[in-house]
Amino acid sequence: MGDEVAFVELDGVGMTFRGRTGAYQAVRDFNLELSEGEFFCLLGTSGCGKTTVMNMLAGFDAPTEGQIRLEGRPVRGPGADRGVVFQGHDSLYDWLTARDNIAFGLRLRGMGRAERRSIADRFLNMVGLAGQGGKHPSELSGGMKQRIQIARALANDPRMLLMDEPFGALDAMTRAVLQGELSRIWSENRKTVLFITHDIEEACALATRVGVMKRGPGGTLKAVVPLDLPYPRERTSDAFMASFRRVHELIHAEIHPQ
Ligand SMILES: Nc1ncnc2c1ncn2[C@@H]1O[C@H](COP(=O)(O)OP(=O)(O)OP(=O)(O)O)[C@@H](O)[C@H]1O
Ligand SMILES: [Mg+2]
Repeated sequence: MGDEVAFVELDGVGMTFRGRTGAYQAVRDFNLELSEGEFFCLLGTSGCGKTTVMNMLAGFDAPTEGQIRLEGRPVRGPGADRGVVFQGHDSLYDWLTARDNIAFGLRLRGMGRAERRSIADRFLNMVGLAGQGGKHPSELSGGMKQRIQIARALANDPRMLLMDEPFGALDAMTRAVLQGELSRIWSENRKTVLFITHDIEEACALATRVGVMKRGPGGTLKAVVPLDLPYPRERTSDAFMASFRRVHELIHAEIHPQ
């Protein structure tokens, strides 16, 4: 009995990095609850702590303060329930082909070769790289590697997607296509998504809620803007533009503090 447990809960989360040059409190008192199936976009100026928050939720770094819980259980490390798309595109295995990179997690789970290949090819196709599966990462452009990373995360069918500026390196056309695909995959499979971006329009097109962070040190969640608009979003509608302006004001205040 008792209160319903949030799917994801960041409870007073903080991160202080300690290095040779001393301690730096990157994130402080970060509180957020996500319900299952939400698409939460996290925005904030460069260096405010977005990637730090994602790394803690992914289980790569343990918070130095507070706690992160998934369905009520503390996060103790990475898990197949959380698929990660990293900022930048250097997380692929160079010795594996694009297809084998995508299928890597499926292989670890013991899936047979034919099924792995068919799933990998489906996602290669989805990210516009049909026929490129035999290439190695060193033979692919930055944007292509980024798309392989996205395909890899989706192919594993995790409950939650953690995406750190996944479309940042892509040209406008590919970006628009993948925004549409991601939105469709999300609405069909009701995955919970934490999506980091610098692009306010992208956030307003995709998110059920947009969170804006305060700049660091001590970066924290400053405001959350709910976006109760139907999908696919009509980017020229008054309601969309009002949301865009609201998020823009919040970010602008961080770039040009009083
Ligand atoms: N391993 C680390 N050791 C020390 N400081 C770190 C470490 N990782 C991040 N930081 C610092 O923490 C702060 C937040 O970094 P983070 O990468 O989370 O920012 P971000 O919001 O993702 O920025 P960007 O938009 O540029 O990707 C920065 O000041 C950064 O220098
Ligand atoms: Mg970052």
